[in-house]
Amino acid sequence: MKFFKKTIRDVPLEGKTVLLRADYNVPLKDDGTIHDDFRIRASLPTVKRLLKDDCKVVIIAHLGRPEGVDPKFSLEPAAKRLAELLKEPVRFVDQTTGDKVRMAIKRAPKRGVIVLENLRFNPEEEANDETFARKLAKDSGAHYFIQDGFGVVHRDHASTAAITLFLPSVSGLLLEKEYLSIVSAMKDPKRPLVAVMGGAKVSDKIQVVDELVDKADRLLIGGAMANTFLAGRGQKVGMSKYEKDQASAVASIYTAATAKVGEAKVDEFLELPSDVVVAKSLDTPSSHQNVTLAEVTDDDMILDIGTATTARYVEAIVSAGTVIWNGTLGYAELAVFAQGSAKIAEALATHSHIESIIGGGDTADFAIHWDKKKGDSFSHVSTGGGASLELMAGEKLPGIEHLLDA
Ligand code: 3PG
Repeated sequence: MKFFKKTIRDVPLEGKTVLLRADYNVPLKDDGTIHDDFRIRASLPTVKRLLKDDCKVVIIAHLGRPEGVDPKFSLEPAAKRLAELLKEPVRFVDQTTGDKVRMAIKRAPKRGVIVLENLRFNPEEEANDETFARKLAKDSGAHYFIQDGFGVVHRDHASTAAITLFLPSVSGLLLEKEYLSIVSAMKDPKRPLVAVMGGAKVSDKIQVVDELVDKADRLLIGGAMANTFLAGRGQKVGMSKYEKDQASAVASIYTAATAKVGEAKVDEFLELPSDVVVAKSLDTPSSHQNVTLAEVTDDDMILDIGTATTARYVEAIVSAGTVIWNGTLGYAELAVFAQGSAKIAEALATHSHIESIIGGGDTADFAIHWDKKKGDSFSHVSTGGGASLELMAGEKLPGIEHLLDA
């Protein structure tokens, strides 16, 4: 499969100034330092390649959802982390446009890297304002715009849409890798394609589940999402978290699944937990026990898939050609309820024949922290949360669509 957009390999970049959109929306600790630099590390191949071409690299990005200028959301810590990872000086400018930006870029040497302040300090960014985008392009003095912020390409913002009106715009290496990994797993997977879906909400992932019912050979459901499925099937889930208003969505997923594989096979195709780990509350995790579904009582909370379900899911995974995993299978913030997710991660990491695509957000976070190789044990860990879901659901993403066609 080939990417349908031009990338940095397709345009003459030697010695040019480039405006690079990255996604440095990284989790911060209370003291303002970076908790997880996964997204910054993921930007390195593109930045290094641009430096190899003697480019001057001006990086724009966002952090959080600030209301105007708010120092808590400054990109300065991200710029420092980038410098450490690159082992090259990185200049940070506390403005996004204007004289200070122009001067800093002008003064920067060939192969200089400059990180500008959080785009979202300007309301024009999220408004996809053309005047702001024109200023970004002009003040950076860039010859090209490079989109590599995969996590944000589902947004229609100045730095994903309007900016492409003012500069020839191509994809970075991360965006290309994300697109090819996710879209080929959905459209042309090595079969069987097994999808592992979990996390909190069915409602967030309904389009992806619909798409997977169509494309996958087997779906394994866990997390609070499984509670919604179980409740929708009339199973008692006690005090467990689930979405009461999603019963009709669950019913329509079953209708589609039944139409695909037939009534007799639907439970082998769309698999739910048969045993679960329960506790009376999150404050008393040590009271947890493994029970069958029939044993779940009114005051139980389901917080992980059980051991028999885990074994069944692992068996499905190791016989897969491709596995798409989106959503942890239990309350993985607490290690005691992360056992199911850990076994899934282990099965993927230790079976190299599996093409494993791990969706962004919490699942990526879990997989990277579980993995001694920080995610390298899997074929692809996505940096995108909403963007990876929308891409899997087959949607067209503005930050990709606006780039130059290949
Ligand atoms: C993300 O974290 O998913 C991206 O950086 C997009 O951020 P947003 O949801 O605030 O637009």
